[in-house]
Amino acid sequence: MAVEIVQETRTRMNENIHPTIFKITQAARIKSLGQRPILVWFTGLSGSGKSTLANGVENALHVQGIHTYLLDGDNIRTGLNKDLSFTDGDRVENIRRIAEVSKLMLDAGLVVLSAFISPFREEREMIRDLVGEANFLEIFVDCPIKVCEERDVKGLYQKARQGLIKNFTGIDSPYQPPLKPFITIKTAEESLVDSITKITELLAQKINH
Ligand code: ADX
Repeated sequence: MAVEIVQETRTRMNENIHPTIFKITQAARIKSLGQRPILVWFTGLSGSGKSTLANGVENALHVQGIHTYLLDGDNIRTGLNKDLSFTDGDRVENIRRIAEVSKLMLDAGLVVLSAFISPFREEREMIRDLVGEANFLEIFVDCPIKVCEERDVKGLYQKARQGLIKNFTGIDSPYQPPLKPFITIKTAEESLVDSITKITELLAQKINH
């Protein structure tokens, strides 16, 4: 009963929502910024190196005069998504919100870099559908769990093994690697500098008109 009422209210609300057509379009912003907005989506296990890579790539793009913004798991989870846990459902909601925020930033003309575990293939496909295939570049930060666990920068793997953290990706929650990523970086084998250079060069070709 309660669910029906909520659904009915939502339907009525949607019927009464009439989005404004803005005078300043994405095309106008693209023209004034002189760059093509894209969403660069880093996915991989905790400790695989997503944040480090995304940070390095953003810095390299910024130095080239490209307008960027970086969205990162731990940061977003202390603000916009601080109400979300790590259950499957909350992870889906985490990614749904990030996808919507990314879409707004693309509309603003930015090159958006996102670093989230984003463990589910279906959710990453949802982002691709939302922002458009051509605007979504998936980067698989591929690192064996054994290496992530040895690094254990935040001490979380140890806590997960002790049962102090539940639903930890790679331990008692699944990670589904991308099937056809734009780029795969093997962080246990490639140097950070080489990886940043490789990604930045490939992205610059897409961004610059
Ligand atoms: S996602 O799965 O929903 O995409 P997200 O990237 O936002 O995850 O957050 C991952 C970060 O949260 C990890 O880097 C880690 O620091 C922290 N974290 C805390 N609990 C967990 C958990 N159960 N599983 C994975 N990461 C966790």
